[in-house]
Amino acid sequence: MEISKLIERAIDAKGRAYAPYSGFKVGAALLAEEGEIFTGCNIENAAYSPTNCAERTAFFTAISFGITKFKAIAIVGGMGDELTENCFPCGVCRQVMMEFCAPNFTIIIAQSPEKFTTHTLEEILPYGFGPSNL
Ligand code: THU
Repeated sequence: MEISKLIERAIDAKGRAYAPYSGFKVGAALLAEEGEIFTGCNIENAAYSPTNCAERTAFFTAISFGITKFKAIAIVGGMGDELTENCFPCGVCRQVMMEFCAPNFTIIIAQSPEKFTTHTLEEILPYGFGPSNL
Protein backbone atom coordinates (compact mmCIF):
# COMPACT_ATOMS: atom_id res chain seq x y z
CA MET A 1 0.00 0.00 0.00
CA GLU A 2 1.37 3.34 -1.02
CA ILE A 3 1.33 6.03 1.64
CA SER A 4 -0.12 8.54 -0.84
CA LYS A 5 -3.16 6.29 -1.45
CA LEU A 6 -3.80 5.96 2.29
CA ILE A 7 -3.63 9.74 2.66
CA GLU A 8 -6.08 10.18 -0.22
CA ARG A 9 -8.52 7.94 1.64
CA ALA A 10 -8.06 10.04 4.81
CA ILE A 11 -8.71 13.24 2.86
CA ASP A 12 -11.84 11.69 1.38
CA ALA A 13 -13.04 10.68 4.87
CA LYS A 14 -12.43 14.22 6.15
CA GLY A 15 -15.04 15.33 3.64
CA ARG A 16 -17.61 13.40 5.68
CA ALA A 17 -16.63 14.96 9.04
CA TYR A 18 -19.59 16.10 11.11
CA ALA A 19 -18.10 19.03 12.98
CA PRO A 20 -20.71 21.80 13.26
CA TYR A 21 -19.51 22.89 16.73
CA SER A 22 -15.73 23.13 16.36
CA GLY A 23 -15.44 23.48 12.59
CA PHE A 24 -12.34 21.29 12.93
CA LYS A 25 -12.63 18.46 10.40
CA VAL A 26 -10.56 15.29 10.63
CA GLY A 27 -10.24 12.22 8.43
CA ALA A 28 -8.36 8.99 9.09
CA ALA A 29 -7.54 5.92 7.01
CA LEU A 30 -6.47 2.83 8.94
CA LEU A 31 -4.47 0.12 7.14
CA ALA A 32 -5.00 -3.40 8.48
CA GLU A 33 -2.35 -6.15 8.39
CA GLU A 34 -4.11 -7.91 5.52
CA GLY A 35 -4.36 -4.74 3.45
CA GLU A 36 -7.94 -3.64 4.08
CA ILE A 37 -8.50 0.07 4.72
CA PHE A 38 -11.04 1.41 7.23
CA THR A 39 -11.77 5.11 7.20
CA GLY A 40 -13.26 7.42 9.79
CA CYS A 41 -14.20 11.04 10.37
CA ASN A 42 -14.91 12.99 13.53
CA ILE A 43 -18.53 12.99 14.61
CA GLU A 44 -19.49 15.77 17.01
CA ASN A 45 -22.52 16.07 19.24
CA ALA A 46 -24.55 18.94 20.70
CA ALA A 47 -23.80 17.53 24.17
CA TYR A 48 -20.08 17.74 23.25
CA SER A 49 -18.69 14.77 25.23
CA PRO A 50 -20.22 12.06 22.96
CA THR A 51 -17.98 13.40 20.17
CA ASN A 52 -15.89 10.71 18.49
CA CYS A 53 -12.56 11.43 16.83
CA ALA A 54 -11.83 10.34 13.27
CA GLU A 55 -9.14 7.91 14.41
CA ARG A 56 -11.42 6.12 16.84
CA THR A 57 -14.20 5.99 14.27
CA ALA A 58 -11.78 4.16 11.95
CA PHE A 59 -10.56 1.79 14.68
CA PHE A 60 -14.02 0.98 16.00
CA THR A 61 -15.33 0.35 12.49
CA ALA A 62 -12.49 -2.10 11.83
CA ILE A 63 -12.93 -3.85 15.17
CA SER A 64 -16.66 -4.16 14.55
CA PHE A 65 -15.81 -6.03 11.34
CA GLY A 66 -13.56 -8.41 13.26
CA ILE A 67 -10.28 -6.86 12.12
CA THR A 68 -7.87 -6.31 15.01
CA LYS A 69 -4.35 -6.15 13.54
CA PHE A 70 -3.07 -2.94 12.00
CA LYS A 71 -0.02 -1.54 10.25
CA ALA A 72 -0.57 2.19 9.84
CA ILE A 73 -2.99 5.11 10.00
CA ALA A 74 -3.03 8.30 7.94
CA ILE A 75 -4.55 11.37 9.58
CA VAL A 76 -5.50 14.74 8.11
CA GLY A 77 -7.32 17.54 9.85
CA GLY A 78 -7.73 21.21 10.51
CA MET A 79 -10.13 24.13 10.65
CA GLY A 80 -12.35 24.37 7.62
CA ASP A 81 -11.76 22.74 4.27
CA GLU A 82 -8.13 23.62 3.53
CA LEU A 83 -5.34 21.41 4.85
CA THR A 84 -2.67 23.74 6.20
CA GLU A 85 -1.81 22.19 9.54
CA ASN A 86 -0.74 18.90 11.07
CA CYS A 87 -3.30 17.02 13.14
CA PHE A 88 -1.75 14.64 15.64
CA PRO A 89 -4.04 12.21 17.45
CA CYS A 90 -5.45 13.18 20.84
CA GLY A 91 -4.46 11.28 23.97
CA VAL A 92 -7.60 9.15 23.99
CA CYS A 93 -6.97 7.99 20.40
CA ARG A 94 -3.33 7.23 21.25
CA GLN A 95 -4.59 5.01 24.07
CA VAL A 96 -6.94 3.18 21.67
CA MET A 97 -3.96 2.61 19.35
CA MET A 98 -2.07 1.22 22.37
CA GLU A 99 -4.81 -1.37 22.81
CA PHE A 100 -4.58 -2.81 19.32
CA CYS A 101 -1.21 -1.85 17.84
CA ALA A 102 2.44 -2.76 18.22
CA PRO A 103 5.05 -0.16 19.24
CA ASN A 104 6.14 0.18 15.58
CA PHE A 105 2.60 0.97 14.33
CA THR A 106 3.02 3.85 11.87
CA ILE A 107 1.17 7.15 12.23
CA ILE A 108 1.21 9.26 9.07
CA ILE A 109 0.43 12.93 9.67
CA ALA A 110 -0.42 14.52 6.35
CA GLN A 111 -1.37 17.78 4.69
CA SER A 112 -1.53 16.27 1.20
CA PRO A 113 -0.59 12.96 -0.49
CA GLU A 114 2.90 14.43 -0.97
CA LYS A 115 3.35 16.33 2.27
CA PHE A 116 3.51 14.13 5.34
CA THR A 117 5.63 12.90 8.24
CA THR A 118 5.69 9.42 9.74
CA HIS A 119 5.91 8.49 13.40
CA THR A 120 5.60 5.35 15.49
CA LEU A 121 3.18 4.71 18.31
CA GLU A 122 6.14 4.28 20.63
CA GLU A 123 7.30 7.82 19.74
CA ILE A 124 3.96 9.54 20.27
CA LEU A 125 2.95 7.50 23.34
CA PRO A 126 6.09 6.66 25.30
CA TYR A 127 5.75 4.58 28.45
CA GLY A 128 2.18 3.71 27.46
CA PHE A 129 -0.11 1.45 29.45
CA GLY A 130 -1.56 -1.42 27.45
CA PRO A 131 -2.84 -5.00 27.39
CA SER A 132 0.57 -6.39 28.33
CA ASN A 133 0.35 -4.60 31.69
CA LEU A 134 -2.68 -6.64 32.76
N1 THU B 1 -10.42 15.47 16.60
C1 THU B 1 -10.21 14.31 15.89
O1 THU B 1 -11.14 13.80 15.25
N2 THU B 1 -8.98 13.76 15.91
C2 THU B 1 -7.89 14.32 16.50
O2 THU B 1 -6.81 13.75 16.44
C3 THU B 1 -8.01 15.60 17.19
C4 THU B 1 -9.38 16.09 17.41
C5 THU B 1 -11.72 16.11 16.54
C6 THU B 1 -12.56 16.04 17.76
C7 THU B 1 -13.45 17.25 17.61
O3 THU B 1 -14.54 16.90 16.77
C8 THU B 1 -12.59 18.24 16.86
O4 THU B 1 -11.55 17.48 16.27
C9 THU B 1 -12.01 19.33 17.72
O5 THU B 1 -11.40 18.82 18.84
